[in-house]
Amino acid sequence: MNLKRLGVLTSGGDAPGMNAAIRAVVRQASALDIEVYGVYRGFQGLVDQDWRPLSSRNCANILQRGGTILNTARCDAFRVKAVRAQVARDLKAADIDALVVIGGDGSFTGATLLSEEQTIPCIGIPGTIDNDLPGTERTLGFDTALNTAIGAIDRIRDTASAHERLFLVEVMGRSSGMIAVHTAIACGAEAVIYPESATDTYEELVTQLRAGWVRGKRSSIVVVAEGDQQLGNAYAVGERLRQDHDLDLRVVVLGHIQRGGSPSAIDRIWGSLWGAEAVKRLAAGEKGCYLGAQAGDLVSIPLARIHDPRPAPPAVLTDLLPVLGR
Ligand code: F6P
Repeated sequence: MNLKRLGVLTSGGDAPGMNAAIRAVVRQASALDIEVYGVYRGFQGLVDQDWRPLSSRNCANILQRGGTILNTARCDAFRVKAVRAQVARDLKAADIDALVVIGGDGSFTGATLLSEEQTIPCIGIPGTIDNDLPGTERTLGFDTALNTAIGAIDRIRDTASAHERLFLVEVMGRSSGMIAVHTAIACGAEAVIYPESATDTYEELVTQLRAGWVRGKRSSIVVVAEGDQQLGNAYAVGERLRQDHDLDLRVVVLGHIQRGGSPSAIDRIWGSLWGAEAVKRLAAGEKGCYLGAQAGDLVSIPLARIHDPRPAPPAVLTDLLPVLGR
C-alpha cells in the first residue's frame, strides 16, 4: 500500500502521554510525506466522520499536556457490524488509508474489528492508566497516574500520622490491581486490596492491621483497588471496619485526579516512540497489531491478543507486600 493519508484517534479513558503520541504521529508522518487526519471523540468520530487535517502546527506545545487534543469517548454504536461497515466505506471515500488507534482494551477490540472484518489497516498504541494490556509491560499514562497517586498518598500519610488514623485510599484500575500494587509498594502502605489477589479477605486485612497495632503502629494506609469485587470498594470496607472495630478511620477516593496532569518523562518518551513507530510500520505495510514494551524494547503484538488474560501485578512486587507493609 502506498500510504498517503492516515487517521489518528484516541479512545476510552484519556491518559497522560496521548498527546505526545499524537504529536509524534503527525511529525513522523510529515517526515514521510503522509497526511494526517485527526479523528475527534474516538470511534464516535469515525461514525460521525468528525475528522480534519492535523498539522505539526496543531501539535505545538501539546507534549507536556495531559488529556487528549482529539477528545475521547466510549462508543456503543461501534458494536454494530453495519455501523462498522459504513465507517469503512466512509474512510475509503475520504482516502484515509490506515488508522492509528490510541487507547486500551475496548479501543483495541474496535481496532481488531476494523482491521480484520473491514480490512482497514490499523496499528494500536497502548494508552490507558490501568496498564492492563496483554503483551506489554507499560501503557501510556500509567507512570504519571502512579506518581499522582503516590504524591496524594504521601500527603495523606502526614495527616494520618498526625491524627493516628487509618486511611483507606481507593485508586483507579477498572478491573486491575496494577495501580494499587505499584502504589502500595511506593508508598509503604500497610495493606493493599486488589482483584488478582487470592488471599484478599476481610479477615486477612484485619489480621494485618491488628499485627501493626500490636507492634505499635498508630496510623496506617490501606490502598484499595477500585476493581476489587470481593471486598467491595473503599467505602464498603471502611464501613465494615468502623462497625466491627469502632475505628476513627477515613476514606479517600482519588478518582479522576489520577487521569489528569502533565505526563511524566516516561510517558512522554514512550508516547513519542510509539507514535513515530506506528507511522513507520504502517508505511512499511505492517497492520493488525499494537505496539508495546518488553524488557525495555519496543515490540509489536497482534491485535487479536487483546482477548488474552490481562496481566496481573508482577509477583516480584506482590511477594514484597507482606514484608514491606509490616
Ligand atoms: O480505564 C481507565 C479508567 O480510568 C479506569 O481506571 C476507570 O475504572 C475508568 O477508566 C473510569 O472511567 P470513566 O472516566 O468513564 O468513569
